[in-house]
Amino acid sequence: MKPPFPTLIATAAVLTVAVTVAALAQAPDPPQRSAGSPPPAHAFPAPTNLKVLPKNLTGEQVHEIMEKWKIALGTHCNTCHAEDKKNPAPDGRPQLNYADDTKAEKSTARLMYKMVEDINGNYVSMVENSGVPVTCGTCHRGHITPEPFVAPAGNYQNNGPPPAKDGEAPKLPR
Ligand code: HEC
Ligand code: HEC
Repeated sequence: MKPPFPTLIATAAVLTVAVTVAALAQAPDPPQRSAGSPPPAHAFPAPTNLKVLPKNLTGEQVHEIMEKWKIALGTHCNTCHAEDKKNPAPDGRPQLNYADDTKAEKSTARLMYKMVEDINGNYVSMVENSGVPVTCGTCHRGHITPEPFVAPAGNYQNNGPPPAKDGEAPKLPR
């Protein structure tokens, strides 16, 4: 009787091809990219200095959050991230050192993130059928410093009666 090896090897080869094809068909999910496929246009290295975000986030996931923060605040990455003076990009353009903690805005953003977690976890989620979590954009609305709310002029009845003058009874809305 012939040894069964050639058949086994052939079967294994077919299986490998099938698995690879299946893996490629499931793309894109960059962290599980199969070894032979081309590198992504942008590689997002795993974070090394997370202090408030979950430490197991991939580089991609961190990047997604960062894009949201940038848009919510109407800023750019360099609002919070310092330039990497020692390592300019190969083309000489400045690049940012994302793990660097020198910018005050980065510390403020950490504080803000913890605040948002607290607001959602301990307050908003207590509202019955709560489905509208607070995000950076809830307050910032595209501005690095949230704009103060200004009541529409000449429309005080919708915002309650005008404040009473000293010694006068408060006016009730009609
Ligand atoms: C509002 C401030 C802010 C903006 C804008 C911002 N970031 Fe961040 N970024 C942070 C903070 C804060 C952390 C650290 C989070 C932590 O400690 O868990 C961070 C972490 C990172 C990290 C992980 C660094 C490491 O190794 O730990 C990367 C990468 C990063 N940001 C990229 C970006 C990119 C790209 C942009 C622009 C699209 C951007 N960030 C915009 C505040 C910001
Ligand atoms: C509940 C409202 C609210 C939410 C939600 C909020 N912020 Fe803020 N944020 C503020 C206010 C108000 C200030 C201004 C504080 C001051 O200057 O007195 C501020 C200031 C900041 C600053 C400093 C701006 C500067 O000029 O230095 C950064 C950075 C920031 N927020 C990032 C964030 C990020 C990132 C998030 C989401 C993770 C967030 N904020 C969510 C209210 C909010």
